[in-house]
Amino acid sequence: MTSIVYAFKTLCLLPLLFIAVASRPTVKPKVFNVKRHGSIPDGKTDNTDAFIRVWSRACGRRSGSSKIYVPKGNFYLGGVEFVGPCKNPIEFVIDGTLLAPENPSDIKQDTWINFRYINDLSISGFGTLDGQGKKSWPLNDCHKNPNCPKLAMTMGFAFVNNSNIKDITSLNSKMGHLNFFSVHYFNITGVTITAPGDSPNTDGIKMGSCSNIQIFNTNIGTGDDCIAILSGTTNLNISNVKCGPGHGISVGSLGKNKDEKDVKDLTVKDIIFNGTSDGIRIKTWESSASKILVSNFVYENIQMIDVEKPINIDQKYCPHPPCEHENKGESHVQIQDVKLKNIYGTSKNKVAVNLQCSKRFPCKNVELIDINLKNNGLEGGPSTAKCENINGSASGKMALQHCLN
Ligand SMILES: *[C@@H]1O[C@H](CO)[C@@H](O)[C@H](O)[C@H]1NC(C)=O
Ligand SMILES: *[C@@H]1O[C@H](CO)[C@@H](O)[C@H](O)[C@H]1NC(C)=O
Ligand SMILES: *[C@@H]1O[C@H](CO)[C@@H](O)[C@H](O)[C@H]1NC(C)=O
Ligand SMILES: *[C@@H]1O[C@H](CO)[C@@H](O)[C@H](O)[C@H]1NC(C)=O
Ligand SMILES: *[C@@H]1O[C@H](CO)[C@@H](O)[C@H](O)[C@H]1NC(C)=O
Repeated sequence: MTSIVYAFKTLCLLPLLFIAVASRPTVKPKVFNVKRHGSIPDGKTDNTDAFIRVWSRACGRRSGSSKIYVPKGNFYLGGVEFVGPCKNPIEFVIDGTLLAPENPSDIKQDTWINFRYINDLSISGFGTLDGQGKKSWPLNDCHKNPNCPKLAMTMGFAFVNNSNIKDITSLNSKMGHLNFFSVHYFNITGVTITAPGDSPNTDGIKMGSCSNIQIFNTNIGTGDDCIAILSGTTNLNISNVKCGPGHGISVGSLGKNKDEKDVKDLTVKDIIFNGTSDGIRIKTWESSASKILVSNFVYENIQMIDVEKPINIDQKYCPHPPCEHENKGESHVQIQDVKLKNIYGTSKNKVAVNLQCSKRFPCKNVELIDINLKNNGLEGGPSTAKCENINGSASGKMALQHCLN
């Protein structure tokens, strides 16, 4: 009965809907094809100024939205900044290849292509951002050389709201591929990120101080974190992501600097980690300058294929010695309300689950449900778990009860 009434109502409403749609003025965006605005796709001519001129016109257009179109071809581009606010929504459709300078010193800013202070920005297309990082990776020696050259990230978004990026490929960044800072309401979909597993610091997606972000249907293979989630990020959903090679989906490192903010409401679902060093990872510095909360995380339906450290909470993170300090082993980051459910596959280490929480602020309410990781490494025998200072519950195949207090 209800369905008949519903069908009847729908039938009656349909013509009204058509009228409503038909009578709405359908204003198409004005298209700015970069080739018709002075850009030359010969892979050599520097198109920086031409791109900035097009941006100014498109962004400043008062009478309606704009679409900047990059057709097929190789557009060499130096460092550019696209700054808003724009008068209207703006689209960037990239079907061609944007080529970064090979020489890192030819990019005189942190980020090769940077978007700032923009609302309603949409980037799409089947084109490629080619960071041409190969020549600069060997120069990446900052861990030992204070005068190391500054390498640029490929694309950055700062103070950008209500926007999205889809389908684009980011190839061989010099440093990270996509960087987000203070970005709110943003979708990342269908994006492909590719760099060799041994390329240094080529994080896939990195974000700090962001909220209400979705990342889905995305394929990331790179030399550092597939996704790095930093201070102040809240309400982030990641699903249908493939990660590998790379260092996994990583929260942190956190706690080292003053004025860091909580990280909360993270959902990571339907993920494949393939041949990565880490899978699920949370790292907080052993020596903490800030006391923050990491809470309300859900990790669900995650396959691990030959992952070195599939599940790794490390609250004694200290990659560069010396690590000695007053509160050794007492990170001030509180981790709580974390659920891990249906995590399966193979681990290259016998210790497949490592949960090393802070002694001062033990992990609270950690739920381990249906964790089933097999040891596939050189050291034989069944996989094991190592835990410290953690409270919660466990059920399922791998008997992890001994881990919890
Ligand atoms: C972007 O969103 C944040 C959080 O909702 C808000 O504080 C900020 O004012 C917004 N910025 C703009 C330019 O609208
Ligand atoms: C993000 O995707 C959701 C659907 O999953 C949609 O409702 C929302 O409008 C999108 N937001 C932006 C900014 O594209
Ligand atoms: C993320 O998923 C949660 C739970 O499904 C939902 O409540 C929330 O609105 C989602 N957030 C975003 C940004 O999509
Ligand atoms: C995992 O990676 C290997 C080696 O690159 C590849 O052959 C295999 O198809 C991948 N498996 C999945 C499920 O993606
Ligand atoms: C775990 O919780 C129980 C009960 O709340 C408490 O007695 C115990 O001290 C907690 N252990 C840790 C390591 O926090």
